[in-house]
Amino acid sequence: MKILAATQKPFAEAAVQKIKEISGQNGFEFALLEKYSGREELLEAVKDADALIVRSDKVTREVLDAAKNLKIVVRAGAGYDNIDLQAATEKGVVVMNTPGQNSNAVAELALGLMVYAARGFYNGKPGTELKGKTLGIHAYGHVGKLVAKIAKDGFGMIVSAFDPFIPEEAILADGVKAVKSVEELYSQNQYVSLHIPATEQTKNSINYSLLSRMPKGATLLNTARKEVINEADIERILAEREDFKYVSDIAPDNAESLKEKFPGRVYFTPKKMGAQTAEANINAGIAAVNQIVKYFAEGDVTFQVNK
Ligand code: 3PG
Repeated sequence: MKILAATQKPFAEAAVQKIKEISGQNGFEFALLEKYSGREELLEAVKDADALIVRSDKVTREVLDAAKNLKIVVRAGAGYDNIDLQAATEKGVVVMNTPGQNSNAVAELALGLMVYAARGFYNGKPGTELKGKTLGIHAYGHVGKLVAKIAKDGFGMIVSAFDPFIPEEAILADGVKAVKSVEELYSQNQYVSLHIPATEQTKNSINYSLLSRMPKGATLLNTARKEVINEADIERILAEREDFKYVSDIAPDNAESLKEKFPGRVYFTPKKMGAQTAEANINAGIAAVNQIVKYFAEGDVTFQVNK
């Protein structure tokens, strides 16, 4: 039985060592494909894999077709929009994620980006502080909850959250205001931090109608997915409002145009950095391999996302 870790953006070395170790201890052969340049390399590598560990790597129908022995794919991370779930389900391939394992890394980056924006991207001029400012958390999952906690307890921000899938009491129990609608969230908060997944319902959903509700000195922060933003609308709001900033860990398709038109008001990390810490890689990598071992040993499907 062979486990392949195919990660275009490599895991930290310590994470790879641990995955390798756990694979060996449980009688699995382990193969690693890192920094691969094209899909041909991936198609070749998956041919004899029984299990696949990926990050944001695209697991398309073509990849699944090539992986004739494949029984399970684990996305070492939270969002699984990079995996063709329908094709996997048709082929009887189990798909899992490792929820929560890299969320602290993403939450810390979100706060780092917020400080960076508040201080004018370190341009030397007087900026503003986060203390006492309002922050809206759009989706209160693992990352959203941590961002809320650090912002509230660490920075003294006033935090609200909107999440139709989380009971209001659970949000209130954390000392966070639970707002009843997404419109309310955008209307009431100077900072909004996105933590929604990219789904058919959320793609393009962060649009002009929502963004134009944000109060003066607004900053939209995206450490989720670029697909959730309506890129034409973000350009429109940036053009209309000189007080509006957009900071993202996932460069939009119109990044160059936005940087040119709105200098000092937009920032995009050169590469998605949210989960790029040794700790997050180790946590998510170990969880992924352990889930594979448990699946083959006991049929455990706790984290399956294509049930
Ligand atoms: C996730 O969904 O877990 C994050 O976006 C991290 O993605 P990455 O593993 O590609 O850095």
